[in-house]
Amino acid sequence: MPCGPKDRLMYQTALINNAKLFAVAPMMDWTDRHCRYFHRLLTREALLYTEMVVADAIIHGDVARHLDFDAVEHPLALQIGGSQSEKLVHAAKAGTQWGYREINLNVGCPSDRVQSGTFGACLMREPELVARCVAAMKDAVDIPITVKCRIGVDDQDARDALFRMTDAVFEKGCDALWVHARKAWLKGLSPKENRDVPPLDYPLVGQLKGAYPDHFIGINGGILTPETGTEILNINPAASLNGIMIGRAAYQNPAILAKVDELYGGCTLQKINLEQVCQAMMEYTGRHLKNGGRVHHVTRHMIGLFQGQPGARRYRQILSVDAAHADADERVIERAFAAVQDISHAA
Ligand SMILES: Cc1cc2nc3c(=O)[nH]c(=O)nc-3n(C[C@H](O)[C@H](O)[C@H](O)COP(=O)(O)O)c2cc1C
Repeated sequence: MPCGPKDRLMYQTALINNAKLFAVAPMMDWTDRHCRYFHRLLTREALLYTEMVVADAIIHGDVARHLDFDAVEHPLALQIGGSQSEKLVHAAKAGTQWGYREINLNVGCPSDRVQSGTFGACLMREPELVARCVAAMKDAVDIPITVKCRIGVDDQDARDALFRMTDAVFEKGCDALWVHARKAWLKGLSPKENRDVPPLDYPLVGQLKGAYPDHFIGINGGILTPETGTEILNINPAASLNGIMIGRAAYQNPAILAKVDELYGGCTLQKINLEQVCQAMMEYTGRHLKNGGRVHHVTRHMIGLFQGQPGARRYRQILSVDAAHADADERVIERAFAAVQDISHAA
């Protein structure tokens, strides 16, 4: 199967062909446009997600700052936050006009800021409201509308909460559901703790897929590599899940993305060459500097590229310390890469 940008029907096509999709999770402050450009050099196939953008920020804020991206980032989804359907419709229309391929609604973020605005994970208690938002966006735009949710919050019965949410949104035409397979505890845990402390329940998401064989359901949470992802897809041997989404491991150890196209794309691509990736990132960073940006905006996302390899420490040091100097330019990437080469040749 040829690799290449996915189209608007990608979720239906994946279901029909029983193809498995791979996504890099939306992560605030991490998956900005520089990060996504970098990730795209490592995988042609993965779906990429923006950080969550609240609908109000699109309505009242600097739209270009929130929504701009480079066409090479496709297939790219815009994740939005909110719970007022008219605001979400405004944001979904803006995202569609801007060229995104999908609008994803955040029903999983547990931060205080998000709770006070009645969106994110606390919406797990309001499946009908979420479904109405999905329906309104489906009516307004013709790109996929998807939801990313938890399996429940606080003392909810996870099975009941997850199945009720799923039922409600699929009934209104939601194109795909990405499930972070743990609850969010809204009282007493920080957002960071809420990504680790509540236990993962992959079998529950597997059971959910068994109940919705004709709908796209992807799984997220605690998956460390694309390879282990292929095992988790079959957590319910009777009904295999449709996609894997990885967040932190992809950010902290981005070289794992170089396996995605082979494992999920169904095609053999030429091996990803990290020297070429660094070279391309130098060119990108040079352009960013010319547009008034700072080297550090880009290089901070590349710090984990050689994780676990000889020279990784020196590479990290150059990219985090030297790149932060006011007069740093893109050649800092060349120096960091050369340090890895020197140390690995000497090892
Ligand atoms: C720094 C950071 C920021 C995050 N921001 C978002 C966000 O904006 N929207 C969202 O749906 N999830 C967000 N998440 C949660 C991830 O998308 C993902 O669900 C979670 O990290 C679990 O997946 P993982 O174990 O593969 O990292 C964030 C996670 C991290 C680490």
